[in-house]
Amino acid sequence: MEKLVIEGGIPLTGTIRIHGSKNAALPILAACILVDGKHTVDNVPDLLDIKVMIEILNAIGCKANHQDGSVILDTSSIYSHHIPEDLMKQMRSSIFMMGPLLARFGQVQVYQPGGCAIGERKIDLHLKGLKSLGATIEETNNTIICRAKKLIGGNIHLDFPSVGATENILMAAVLAEGETTIHQAAKEPEIVDLQNFLNALGAKITGAGTDTIHIVGVKQLTPCQYRIIPDRIVAGTLMIATAVTGGNVELTSTCPQHLESLIHVLKKADVQITLKNDIINITSIGRPKSLDRIVTSPYPAFPTDLQSQIMVLLSLSDGITTIKEKIFEQRFKHVDELKKMGADIQVNNNIAYVRGVPRLYGASVKATDLRAGAALVVAGLAGKGTTIIEHIHHIDRGYVNIESIFNQLGANITRCVESPVSR
Ligand code: EPU
Repeated sequence: MEKLVIEGGIPLTGTIRIHGSKNAALPILAACILVDGKHTVDNVPDLLDIKVMIEILNAIGCKANHQDGSVILDTSSIYSHHIPEDLMKQMRSSIFMMGPLLARFGQVQVYQPGGCAIGERKIDLHLKGLKSLGATIEETNNTIICRAKKLIGGNIHLDFPSVGATENILMAAVLAEGETTIHQAAKEPEIVDLQNFLNALGAKITGAGTDTIHIVGVKQLTPCQYRIIPDRIVAGTLMIATAVTGGNVELTSTCPQHLESLIHVLKKADVQITLKNDIINITSIGRPKSLDRIVTSPYPAFPTDLQSQIMVLLSLSDGITTIKEKIFEQRFKHVDELKKMGADIQVNNNIAYVRGVPRLYGASVKATDLRAGAALVVAGLAGKGTTIIEHIHHIDRGYVNIESIFNQLGANITRCVESPVSR
């Protein structure tokens, strides 16, 4: 087991390039299954979840390799439609195998997926959507078997704009007979990236990025080379870390339009942001101002994936801010850890009351999930003294070598092997 040791209190300075988006790359790698042939997907981050996706693809007969930021993937020798249970449990995105395998082969066997423990994370909307396209679904205990002689387009109304359900249905519908409309679809940039990828394969999709997506089914697709969008959550984490350390950082290879809600919040907190093409400059000019409230909601509202990190900034602000978490039921697990570092936060159901303190202090803390872990790194960078973060495998799911990212900006973070517990 590894841990991070952070010597805090150093303002971040310098320039850094943002790596490709995990949450865009995962469904796109799964979508390659829709087509027989050899794909190249560029700007794929070298992360644990991507490694698991590649293992899953190889387990069903694909030949997938990740080298120098690109995944080369040959889907012409798929022999299995059954995803091994141990791989399904390793991440939530294993569920993305369902739509493409069903569309291409008419059957798929999966299990309830794993993933960060941040809420109940049901898959009912995925299954309902696939049923609307004509699939039959057998669910016994943990096992889910989907079959369809052929998928037929239809009208699908999502009860909630689920990112994963929108993506799964989109992937299934591209090869369905006839036309499909997804109403109350998720509008996240990762959905637009999936649409762009599928259209590059020859699909006929319009509307991604709005709440109605229209798909005209096609008979055949052809492989392509595609470049994944930059990771907006990694960029957002770096922007917040710069602000709380009193730093001055330039981020390159970003999509500022994907970060509008965060930019708005940071500006209100008195952080200086300037934008030029794909470059974001962040300068902190003193203690952040508190805000009225932050509410996480589906895109384009404030993202749940940046809620824990912005809580660190507000913990250091000059007043009280409420943060309401509306996406996941258990996404305040970082609060107890931040309190160990001196933060003053009270939680009542899905609302956190954050009272700013002048300073955070180093402490020994545990990452409970990916973004909670990222928030602890941000807090450790801002805090006085040494912070030790355990359970960092969670952080490695979403940030490529997080210590190297921050050390390039002048931070002092070391990755160490946890010493065995003395008996
Ligand atoms: N939901 C259901 N039924 C479903 C699907 C979702 O009730 O069938 C509920 C969930 O329980 C949750 C809410 O809807 O309360 C939102 O879930 P959604 O399906 O939108 O999220 P997801 O697809 O599981 C993706 C990202 C998450 C990100 C959320 C919200 C990927 C691989 N994961 O998850 O990313 O937080 O959208 O934006 O794209 C992360 O990167 O740290 C992460 C958790």
